[in-house]
Amino acid sequence: MRYDLLIRNATVVDGTRAARFEADIGVRGGKIAEIGRLKGKGDVECDASGKIAAPGFIDAHTHDDRLMLSAPDMAPKVSQGVTTVIAGNCGVSLAPAPRGMPRPVTPPLDLMDCEGGWFHFPKFSNYVEELRARPAATNCALLVGHTMLRVQTMKDLERPASQGEIKKMKEMVEEALAAGAIGLSTGLYYEPARAATTEEVIEVCRPLTRRHALYCTHMRDEGDHVVDSLEETFRIGRELGVPVVISHHKVVGKPNFGRSAETLPIIEKAMLSQKIGLDCYPYCASSTILSFSRVGVASKVLVTWSKRHPEFSGMDLAEISRKMNLSVEKTVEQLLPAGAIYFSMEEQDVQRILGFEHTMIGSDGLPHDAAPHPRLWGTFPRVLGHYSRGLNLFPLETAVYKMTGLTAKTFGLADRGVLKPGFAADIAVFDESKIDEAASFEKPIQPASGMVAVIVNGTVVWRGGKKTGARPGRVLSRTAG
Ligand code: ZN
Ligand code: CU
Repeated sequence: MRYDLLIRNATVVDGTRAARFEADIGVRGGKIAEIGRLKGKGDVECDASGKIAAPGFIDAHTHDDRLMLSAPDMAPKVSQGVTTVIAGNCGVSLAPAPRGMPRPVTPPLDLMDCEGGWFHFPKFSNYVEELRARPAATNCALLVGHTMLRVQTMKDLERPASQGEIKKMKEMVEEALAAGAIGLSTGLYYEPARAATTEEVIEVCRPLTRRHALYCTHMRDEGDHVVDSLEETFRIGRELGVPVVISHHKVVGKPNFGRSAETLPIIEKAMLSQKIGLDCYPYCASSTILSFSRVGVASKVLVTWSKRHPEFSGMDLAEISRKMNLSVEKTVEQLLPAGAIYFSMEEQDVQRILGFEHTMIGSDGLPHDAAPHPRLWGTFPRVLGHYSRGLNLFPLETAVYKMTGLTAKTFGLADRGVLKPGFAADIAVFDESKIDEAASFEKPIQPASGMVAVIVNGTVVWRGGKKTGARPGRVLSRTAG
């Protein structure tokens, strides 16, 4: 028997939570042909003796819309074993931009491109065509962002949309779904979407129902009013009859420490009557644009980028304010537009949310920050190394499931997330005893340790600590079920 790729002597963790087993994996035509004791040869071979072979990880929450075009090797992701990214989260998507982009770029859309030149796809289909014509190393599944639609439709973002504006946004949602988007995301927390009422969101999202698409949300509130925001999210899902995904679930601010003990049972109960997913990144610091209102609830703030003062990237805000001899509020004003890392969560909550049976792993990495949050390069190896192997929060089989089988099921990616004959050959081979993040808050741009080989649609994209330059990624669609 001849295979395009043969992985020998692997310990297979198949993405379903089933116990590991020893086997070879034969790949042909981009798919897994056979798993078992295989005779025969591979055009490419990989000896995985003593190593784990798992389904390639699916990053449930990314902002990689532009990275796939501007750095298509996707090193921050493939170095961790990620083979598929869900892009277009938090209301922020690169397309559609029929109006282009106003300058300065409206935050938080500037997370993706603070100069604005990349917002040049008039229709969502133009963006999808570009990704198909010039593929990235990873697969992707795409969401269209509600904030982007508002910026493209409304002049004044500080009020709810009018009927006419809703109609326009709805047409754009319809176009995006027809072009291959698997759903819509909101970022109701952020200024340009905050004035949107629940009713506005429901009306804009109407096309999701017929298309069996998803609703993903960076909720209006992840602090004092987190429970109200959960209820709002559930209501949107119920009224549309679509699954919802709660993005980067967390409870922020000291007064809310411990409240994951309250939110998780609420989510679990609601799951009995509707489809709900959630993701989490494995750190107790968040990262987004710099804003003074967020600084108050954080014990420490690191600046990740600043357009006017790039020299302060990676520095503590308190230190910058001493250097500039200004109040913290004035310092923030001087730095804007800028990004930041906020230490504003409790470790116990992070562990409780990660450990929750239904929680997927998503990085929420910000690939264009000068000094990014280490989650960009470290999320998946940190869950495998620190939380599973180190703290024993859950077994390796469960950790892998949270990055693969569960995620594929939640997003409706039919032949992904499980190592099984007939499924796509997205595979991560790693050393269970060595896998860990190398990225840290001090040195955030570091490929993980312990990743042996990463395969996307049967093609090796990462091996021996280096990218191969191959770009076999596809734009994936959703199968509702
Ligand atoms: Zn977000
Ligand atoms: Cu996000």
